[in-house]
Amino acid sequence: MLKVEAGKTFHTHKGYLKFDDLIGKEYGEPFKSSLGITFTTLKPNLTDYMMKSGRNTQIVYPKDAALIVMFSGIGPGSRVFESGTGTGALTTALAHYVGPTGKVYTYELRPEFQKNAAKNIQRAKLQNNVEMKSGDVTMGIEERDLDAVILDLAVPWLVIPHAYQALKPSGILVSFSPTIDQVVRTTEALRENGFVFIETIECLMRTMQVERGKTRPNTMMTGHTGYITHARKILKQLIQQTAQADTLLQEAMPEVNLTEEVEQENNEDMAEESA
Ligand SMILES: C[S@@+](CC[C@H](N)C(=O)[O-])C[C@H]1O[C@@H](n2cnc3c(N)ncnc32)[C@H](O)[C@@H]1O
Repeated sequence: MLKVEAGKTFHTHKGYLKFDDLIGKEYGEPFKSSLGITFTTLKPNLTDYMMKSGRNTQIVYPKDAALIVMFSGIGPGSRVFESGTGTGALTTALAHYVGPTGKVYTYELRPEFQKNAAKNIQRAKLQNNVEMKSGDVTMGIEERDLDAVILDLAVPWLVIPHAYQALKPSGILVSFSPTIDQVVRTTEALRENGFVFIETIECLMRTMQVERGKTRPNTMMTGHTGYITHARKILKQLIQQTAQADTLLQEAMPEVNLTEEVEQENNEDMAEESA
């Protein structure tokens, strides 16, 4: 990705490009290098801004960011919390989707990473959709009534109780983790802290070589990036009430195993449906 500046040149192994030749041209218009090779310009899109960001951490790739955006349910106007900011690749995607009426609050522990992420976000012209904060997110989240909390850091399970406080009821938490050990601890914390519909997925992306008579998956692929765990917040009061109601019923009818009874009903329903 290049910034075109008057009077400057860019050297490639296919000859150099004079930026003055580009100024005033439309995206997609062809032009020639000093060696007569044809080039063209394309307007950077969200994927370009993420993949070409100046990196000082591992980033969330577009294939995972796309699913994180879908599972988090965010859109124009959403208020989203994110940590850690890292390189700001995921922040860029989130900021794009919440639009100018929404906001991404992104927390980062290390000031030098935050500074670099700020540059990346600015380059994508999304800085007005983002509020950057310094600090350790395991100590708490200041924001309240958030639509979504997105985590990509080493110890997401320590943030789950704070995420519960910060989310609006029915709000969504999405956590991205490279190892399954992190997923287990995060899921346990979600179960203990008032979240339901907890699911973990992994997205494997195979690119294709497409040529008539030879179309097939490419030999090389990225084997693993990370797991995506997502969950919904419910009111803890409801969980406690349900647990209390179950206990009262168990006490009133000690011989009845509620779980078995529900399972039996489900089996009968399924048998009826398939008959
Ligand atoms: C894998 S990187 C995040 C990459 C980011 N999602 C992206 O796409 O560019 C994890 C980041 O979390 C930050 N971090 C780790 N623990 C943290 C904490 N307790 N509070 C805030 N940030 C933290 C790290 O400094 C690091 O920058």
